[in-house]
Amino acid sequence: MDLSDKGVVITGAAGGVGSALAREFAAAGANLALLDADEARLGELEQELRAKHPNATLVPVVVDLTDEDAIIAASKRVMGELGQLSVLVNNAGIVLRGIPVQQISSSLWQRVMGINFMATVLCVQNFLPYMQADAGPGHIINIASISGLIMAGDRKTAAYSTSKYAVVAYSEALAAELAGSSIKVSIVAPAGVATTLYENSALQLDAIPKGETIVKTPDDIANGMPPAELAKRTFDLVGSDRLYLVTHEYTRPMIQSRFEKILAGFDD
Ligand SMILES: NC(=O)c1ccc[n+]([C@@H]2O[C@H](COP(=O)([O-])OP(=O)(O)OC[C@H]3O[C@@H](n4cnc5c(N)ncnc54)[C@H](O)[C@@H]3O)[C@@H](O)[C@H]2O)c1
Repeated sequence: MDLSDKGVVITGAAGGVGSALAREFAAAGANLALLDADEARLGELEQELRAKHPNATLVPVVVDLTDEDAIIAASKRVMGELGQLSVLVNNAGIVLRGIPVQQISSSLWQRVMGINFMATVLCVQNFLPYMQADAGPGHIINIASISGLIMAGDRKTAAYSTSKYAVVAYSEALAAELAGSSIKVSIVAPAGVATTLYENSALQLDAIPKGETIVKTPDDIANGMPPAELAKRTFDLVGSDRLYLVTHEYTRPMIQSRFEKILAGFDD
């Protein structure tokens, strides 16, 4: 898909993966709306992109994506400035790991589901009509996780995994309902990507005890895929019919094992 002068919305744009995505789409000549709650890092990204792409339209929006009214207001402002929308990337997220499932409070459940799942639903609800109003092709890309396809019980990621399974189920439903239209849907399921997701999430989740397991970035993330590589592979999905992008080959046997367990559930 030719993205020059096309509108692209990226949520969580100030983060590791989001800023790498913004760089990819900006290099393709797109006009960008960059949504994030982190004003300082969003400002830094805006400065960087304005210096590199002085002619691009950039719409940085500081917004808490757990607030539906704020999303509605942001979508109106964004569309007023972009005028047209071809791509929506739902990427904002937080991780919660290391708390036993019985000890995850309802407010933590709501926060994790609110950012990882409901923000995706609400952004689709508010931006999809603009994509459908456009005559050209469109693409919604939802950044889920390998945790949306397999549950690593030893890591105590019940809320995170549940939120990402929900993103996967929602995206499959959306893809089925939009099939045959001009809007495609894809799901990205990465494993470790070298970002500061853990630190950023811990700052947000100040309700949780800051135990080592929660705050410290695990080695598989610290030594993970460079965000620029994930961004490039995600960018390359645009316009394709591929429903899933599963980026880390070492997760293949884990997915196979889960499906074998499901198939073993048949009586024969
Ligand atoms: N890093 C990994 O290993 C990894 C693996 C699989 C999936 N993912 C997913 O990739 C996505 C991007 O994560 P990342 O690794 O770049 O982390 P990150 O922390 O660098 O980026 C996430 C961004 O989301 C923003 N955000 C969080 N809550 C928000 C809210 N309420 N409103 C607005 N913005 C909010 C943060 O401010 C941050 O800029 C997430 O959905 C994450 O679950 C990451």
